[in-house]
Amino acid sequence: MTDRVLIFDTTLRDGEQSPGATMTHAEKLEIAAMLDDMGVDIIEAGFPIASEGDFAAVAAIAKASRNATICGLSRANFKDIDRCWEAVKHAKKPRIHTFIGTSALHRAIPNLTMDQMAERIHDCVTHARNLCDDVQWSSMDATRTEWDFLKRTVEIAIKAGATTINIPDTVGYTAPVESADLIRRLIAEVEGAETVIFATHCHNDLGMATANSLAAVEGGARQIECTINGLGERAGNTALEEVVMALKVRADIMPYHSNVDSRKIMAISRRVATVSGFPVQFNKAIVGKNAFAHESGIHQDGMLKNAETFEIMRPTDVGLTETSLVMGKHSGRAALRSKLAELGFELADNQLADVFVRFKELADRKKEVFEEDLVALMRQNEAVEDRIRLKSLRVVCGTSGPQTADIVLDIDGTERTAHTTGDGPVDSAFNAVKALFDHKARLQLYQVHAVTEGTDAQATVTVRLEEDGRIATGQSADTDTVVASTKAYINALNRLIVRREKTAPDHDTKGVSYKDVGA
Ligand code: KIV
Ligand code: ZN
Repeated sequence: MTDRVLIFDTTLRDGEQSPGATMTHAEKLEIAAMLDDMGVDIIEAGFPIASEGDFAAVAAIAKASRNATICGLSRANFKDIDRCWEAVKHAKKPRIHTFIGTSALHRAIPNLTMDQMAERIHDCVTHARNLCDDVQWSSMDATRTEWDFLKRTVEIAIKAGATTINIPDTVGYTAPVESADLIRRLIAEVEGAETVIFATHCHNDLGMATANSLAAVEGGARQIECTINGLGERAGNTALEEVVMALKVRADIMPYHSNVDSRKIMAISRRVATVSGFPVQFNKAIVGKNAFAHESGIHQDGMLKNAETFEIMRPTDVGLTETSLVMGKHSGRAALRSKLAELGFELADNQLADVFVRFKELADRKKEVFEEDLVALMRQNEAVEDRIRLKSLRVVCGTSGPQTADIVLDIDGTERTAHTTGDGPVDSAFNAVKALFDHKARLQLYQVHAVTEGTDAQATVTVRLEEDGRIATGQSADTDTVVASTKAYINALNRLIVRREKTAPDHDTKGVSYKDVGA
């Protein structure tokens, strides 16, 4: 057994599965390139059978891959596995990942007996292995599966040719000591265990995902499955940045290492937050805005004397620059380009020209432009594929109503105008959008954050919409809160349109039915 831990990133599959985290094709390609570049070993690029869009994204990521293995997910049936292979086969290093829920609760859904399920696993892994040399098998809900049956299924998968065995804690139920024991026992008792790599895949329902993943490594697992920012359904997944930094900082008690370049963490974290529409909580380990901020006098004093008093790693270890104050209205194009590159945005000349104009506009309105402002600015630059765009907005608000909005939208290339009233400026602006682009989406979340400090701070607004079970999250930022709100609303609508088009043969991508395991 080696001390190298493989990092398997599933931001683009398990992460993107979280309600509202839909990414566009171009965004997925960009994130995959960043993952490859930072040294992630395996990228789970999507669920190819789920939709034409997922298939196209996995195939494109496979074609563009450089060093990483590109993996696709498939349920336990030949149709899924074939479709997965068609997408991943373009990669230099392709992998088919097939899974089935093995616990009693999950067996009951397709109504398979233990024997029937065992046969299904054998057939599917054999079929996958006939297509691809690298096959991962996962026993969904492994941590709640009866030991004898879990052992039996793992042995069958190994005999059928699986090269990686993944033991997911699908519902975030296990605890570190149990997580280590389970892997240790599988390695000790399963026939053929020495021929495969055991993987751990933990969800964070009890906030123990990272601890459980590291404990599994202690027990002998050598692949950690994780996502950037811990993105994922419900409470999310193990966070890539946490395991990478924990292995680095506590190498004294966990003598294992990954190949990930930790200095690329901050850039990808920000990018994933932007494209997924899931902002990072301020106090999140490693990547939160406050993770390296020192407010109290005692802490600040200690930091000035010796940073190690209150920091167990340096901000630069995760790619943070020493100061977040970056630019002002006198900054030039080259400085902007280099700062954006540091933040993970590589721009072509024409893109830079456009961003530069808007940067100058912002710098005129705001005295200091912080990194967060630039990230927010870049977010607005992504509206190119959008069907609905805001051309102009004027609202009238104040103590005596009604508040009104005059809006001009470009919808599919045609300019349309509306004048509406509402209960406050945001309500009237949203009504104006709805008057021009009728839809039945329900507003699930409306959240405003100040990106930086001061009354001239940009407001970042998050809007989550739900329509027929599909959820889309939009984000935007502006020094004008009503403009930011309206843009976020439009952004969510544009994403919802993408979601409408992303429909699986018989299911929607996010709601892809795990019970449908028929071959
Ligand atoms: O959480 C889980 O069990 C999964 C499987 C599909 C691997 O994501
Ligand atoms: Zn999962």
